[in-house]
Amino acid sequence: MAKTSGSGPIRRRTAILISGRGSNMAALIAAAADPPFPAEIALVVSSRPKAAGLDKAGAAGIETAVADYAAGAMAAEAEIEARLAEHGIDLVCLAGFMRLLSPEFVQRWGDRMINIHPSLLPAFAGLNTHHRALDAGVKLHGCTVHFVRAAMDNGPIIAQAAVPVLDGDTPATLGARVLSAEHILYPKVLALVAAERIRVVNELCVFSNRPPPGDGPGVLVSPPGI
Ligand code: GAR
Repeated sequence: MAKTSGSGPIRRRTAILISGRGSNMAALIAAAADPPFPAEIALVVSSRPKAAGLDKAGAAGIETAVADYAAGAMAAEAEIEARLAEHGIDLVCLAGFMRLLSPEFVQRWGDRMINIHPSLLPAFAGLNTHHRALDAGVKLHGCTVHFVRAAMDNGPIIAQAAVPVLDGDTPATLGARVLSAEHILYPKVLALVAAERIRVVNELCVFSNRPPPGDGPGVLVSPPGI
């Protein structure tokens, strides 16, 4: 349960950082539209001025900003930091944010910043994960939500969702199956983080008060019950 005050549940002010189409961002916004959800999406920041996700966020009535990496990574990161401060942001979700954040930024936000990656980490960090999964012949693939550390797609794993790799899959068909799982997993994990149900101990995640199992069909989500 999220902490409550006299006026209802505390909703942690959350920013989503994107670079592109923003389908995970949209899933988080949709989940947070439910008043008891323990996070409110207060800001979306894009590393690219033309990211399609910016229009989706604007249409949902969410404040948006651009931190244009074309102007240099240091300036862009300072812009992100300024916007997070301006909006009183407490949690950050990376959702297809395709830039590496500096160790200093990660140091400040690491245990309040989560990322979704389209593979079962630590397998297939980096790009082209679905292609590489097919090349490797794995039979299960999926996605991971983790706290962010300075190395790419690295940090304490909070939860994963697995999907089968089917005969005849292409990177596109497999990627679509994984993306559907991402949209299920990410809101569940944001709810857990916002409700402070997860602690990082020795760089491993420890859960408290996990709700009973109740996952969507066809997707194996681990740990069960998130
Ligand atoms: C998602 O599949 C996300 O997991 C991936 O980018 C895609 C963004 O799609 N992130 C990474 O690869 C991070 N290393 P979206 O903009 O539609 O959410």
